[in-house]
Amino acid sequence: MYFTYTNSIWRNLKNFIHENSVIRRKFSSEVKQEVKFDNFIEFRRAQASRSILVQVQSENSYVDLCNYCSKFGDIIGAHHYELKDNSNYILIEYKTLESIKEVLDSAHYNLESTGIPAYSPLLWFKAAGVVKGNSVKLLNDSNKKGILKISNGLYQTREADVMELILSAENVSDQIKTLHELTKLNDLEIRLRFLAAKQIENSISGIFPKASALPFGSSVNGFGKMGCDLDLVLRFNQGIVKDNINSRLVFHTKENLTNERSQVQKQMECISDILQIFLPGITSVRRILQARVPIIKFHHLLLNLDVDLTMSNMSGVYMSELLYILGEIDHRIRSLIFVIRKWAQSVGLTNPSPGRWITNFSLSCLAIFFLQNVKHPLLPPIDLLNKSATINDIRITENGLNCTFLRDHSILDFRTENNSELSELLLQFFEFFSQFDFSNKAISMNKGSAIIKPDHSSIYIVNPLEPNLNISKNISLEECERFRIEVRNAAWILDNEIENAKSNSKSTTKLWGIANLFKTSQETVIKPNFFFKPRMVEIKNLFDDKDEEKVISDENDHLNIKESVKTLETNLTKKFKINKTSDR
Ligand code: UTP
Ligand code: MG
Repeated sequence: MYFTYTNSIWRNLKNFIHENSVIRRKFSSEVKQEVKFDNFIEFRRAQASRSILVQVQSENSYVDLCNYCSKFGDIIGAHHYELKDNSNYILIEYKTLESIKEVLDSAHYNLESTGIPAYSPLLWFKAAGVVKGNSVKLLNDSNKKGILKISNGLYQTREADVMELILSAENVSDQIKTLHELTKLNDLEIRLRFLAAKQIENSISGIFPKASALPFGSSVNGFGKMGCDLDLVLRFNQGIVKDNINSRLVFHTKENLTNERSQVQKQMECISDILQIFLPGITSVRRILQARVPIIKFHHLLLNLDVDLTMSNMSGVYMSELLYILGEIDHRIRSLIFVIRKWAQSVGLTNPSPGRWITNFSLSCLAIFFLQNVKHPLLPPIDLLNKSATINDIRITENGLNCTFLRDHSILDFRTENNSELSELLLQFFEFFSQFDFSNKAISMNKGSAIIKPDHSSIYIVNPLEPNLNISKNISLEECERFRIEVRNAAWILDNEIENAKSNSKSTTKLWGIANLFKTSQETVIKPNFFFKPRMVEIKNLFDDKDEEKVISDENDHLNIKESVKTLETNLTKKFKINKTSDR
């Protein structure tokens, strides 16, 4: 017997999965018509603005807490979770923003503690009996039990349980779907990510009322796995609209004359101090300001999140939007990328720390490229999205990157005729990259085809938004070779598994199907070539000296960039106007 479980564990697990899928279905039906990336982000940001997080004694405190909190307004949801240290939290969502103001105005600081009196939506609930709340009728249900939407919402299905459910699937394609369903980010995890962003935004709202902290990366691009890191970009001016341009009153501001990069580094130092010194829950703040994209890393104790905060431009957000849109085009894409990421992690191709190995982001790009090249492509070249853009899709970052592409994929002139099962697609992915000529060819998702490699990088993936950059520049020759070995192994294993699954009856006790792909590299069929150097990272290799030199020497670049952004915007707008007239 591979795994044994008592009936009660099974029941709990199945209940949990059922409960979550009901929530997901409900959520997806709530936002179905708002499936555009911007709407999704706005929906989640608004939800976070109407939410507070309260530390409680235990899950049982929720009736008391909801009773107390409902005197500030209608509550529309409560989500409980417990962390490893046995601390318990309930996230409360109010119907209106006014309630948040009331609830926070009513809260007080613990005068006996030396704590810094920071104002944030993170609170704790005093023990019963100290403050008595009025029993007020709750919005959805007079029975308070009805309001707790999720109990223990950060529960991650144990690896062994995921495996057991994979083994009880019908066929290899169902195994891939099961893996996706069980491991993708859930509703509460997304809420906590947007709350973390809100907390940072609030902390600087005095001087920067228009500041936005925007989640990007796998937290929002549809490829996020439970427990994935949160990537955040903080922009001081994101909400500044050009509509006020005619106002005769202009804000006094400090001149920003030094080069943009060193200015951003200084601002980031200051922000990292605010996070570290003032914001509850934020701990282990580290600054990595010399990197090509300077970041602040920290851990959020109360929200259970590892966060990477940048203050660079919006290109990461637009890239996430692009991946989100591509993932929306066909229901198989996200499941396929999930299984590829899981496989790469299991065989040790990816690694949580940065280094010379392939990243999840590069893997997703490889999968996208494969889906553009498969017989009867599932995805169009990104150039088609660029060409199909409308005037509402114009986006230019502050540093002049043109991130204009069609946002509404439903009007894209592209339909796939590919009816392949997920299992076939996964096998074809492995076969495709077993044969790909990484030595001479670069991957262009824009063109949807291979192009001549512009330099000697081991793997060259053209960044679709910044075509002069290689997304996989960090990958060493050794890691590229390991990737080729592992895809060959995987193709061989999966081919056999698909054949066997057709003929033999499936077992829930013996490994079969994709479960056989998730073996550590020690167990793989072909051993990597040990001729290569060990996989040690040298810190200097994490930084892009060349780029740094370039930026530092361009003292007045930001002025030129501002000019070119303006010209680009004007040209694009003109182009769309001309197209529109000629269409008539
Ligand atoms: P990450 O490396 O954190 O990737 O980059 P990820 O997609 O979030 O995956 P995991 O789950 O953390 O491993 C975050 C985002 O930064 C942008 C992409 O949008 C990516 O999703 N990015 C990263 C780029 O635009 N270019 C790059 O070269 C790297
Ligand atoms: Mg990430």
